[in-house]
Amino acid sequence: MIVRPKGTKDVLPAEAGLWQQIEAAARQMAEEYAFGEIRTPVFEYTELFSRGVGETSDIVNKEMYTFLDKGNRSITLRPEGTAGVARAFLENGLMGGAMPFKAYYLISAFRYERPQAGRLREFHQFGAELYGAAEPFADAEIISYADGFLKRLGLKKVSLLINSIGCKECRKKYHEALKEYFRPHLDEMCGDCRTRFEKNPMRILDCKEENCKKYTACAPKMLDYLCDDCRAHFESVKSLLTAAGVQYTVDPSIVRGLDYYSRTVFEFTSDAAGAQGTVLGGGRYDTLLEQMGEKPVPAVGFAAGIERLIMVMTAENAAFGGKRRGKCYLLGMDETSRKTAFTLAQKLRGAGIPCETDLMNRSVKAQFKYADKSEARFVVVLGERELAEGTAQVKDMKNSSAESVKLEELCQYLSGRIDL
Ligand code: HAM
Repeated sequence: MIVRPKGTKDVLPAEAGLWQQIEAAARQMAEEYAFGEIRTPVFEYTELFSRGVGETSDIVNKEMYTFLDKGNRSITLRPEGTAGVARAFLENGLMGGAMPFKAYYLISAFRYERPQAGRLREFHQFGAELYGAAEPFADAEIISYADGFLKRLGLKKVSLLINSIGCKECRKKYHEALKEYFRPHLDEMCGDCRTRFEKNPMRILDCKEENCKKYTACAPKMLDYLCDDCRAHFESVKSLLTAAGVQYTVDPSIVRGLDYYSRTVFEFTSDAAGAQGTVLGGGRYDTLLEQMGEKPVPAVGFAAGIERLIMVMTAENAAFGGKRRGKCYLLGMDETSRKTAFTLAQKLRGAGIPCETDLMNRSVKAQFKYADKSEARFVVVLGERELAEGTAQVKDMKNSSAESVKLEELCQYLSGRIDL
């Protein structure tokens, strides 16, 4: 048997309902916040990610699915959504349109990571990006949006951690301080950290090696090195979040794993989200477009991992979702009523009522068994007597009760009751 590649997952119909509900909540939130959908290619030129996500990030260094296509071009399956949206924003001249530009996406993304609970090689994200607004209001809006989305999913035990990693200017001083602090320990630290020390010492703070973590815990904090503008920006973001009723904790260890961030960074974490713990992450990235060779445009955004959301929702037993549609099963007891069931099913579907009927010439007993197994909400029984009377026996599978309903009233009867 050919099996699926390591680190991938099949979403089977039994679970797909939850995915659809999460996606529906994401789309609904996007509409409420006035974000339009954007769809960009699954693969891009590799350079987009090496320049955008950043050469010192683990994603670019170790985790990209990169290959040469038949035209000898280096192509990469997107490891995240932000860089592709930035490219589309520039390429389609959206800078000339109404600002802020606001877009959301529901995508699959690919990272060659060591698979474990909550960490896959193909995973899915709901993300949102906002361009053109440098004000703290934009950071607060994005964070409130993310917070509202998680609340709408019924999650209660996620914590919001925020930090500021300053701008290019204040980070220079900070990098010096980090180098001074780490230099005496370099020999005991991992090879990656020694490279990070040279290229981007802040990345050391994100190292997962136990031995390196010993040193990172007491390292200097970026918050102590913020310039006046960055400090004022961070204070405003915090006060806007408080005003919006969004609870947060300032955590100086949040530096994020991608190189494009500046100023505000944040993560929503949960104990139930696997070893990594982060269900949703994001921040401001005012220099990304500049890194891509264009004029700087302020931007801020977030992305949530759908698989991790599902893990956390399951662990929290989150009370989520409005009404789900149930379905009914039309059961024909003999040859003639089978045909009636078949045509009636088309009519009910036309009226928006999900229904099924027998396609396998099954006995009445086997049809009931199937209806039960496939969790039909109602079984509509049609037999010789019912057809003669122009009625159907409608069996409520939840309450184990039955009622005789006139065929011409069946649509109305079911549509009022079919929601779960
Ligand atoms: P990220 O933190 O790399 O940020 O990923 C966002 C979310 O995607 C994570 O919090 C996690 O839930 C999920 N995720 C990441 N990697 C995996 C994986 N291997 N398996 C399962 N889930 C995963 C970004 O991607 C940024 N583009 C977010 C952003 C948007 N920043 C600004 N705008």
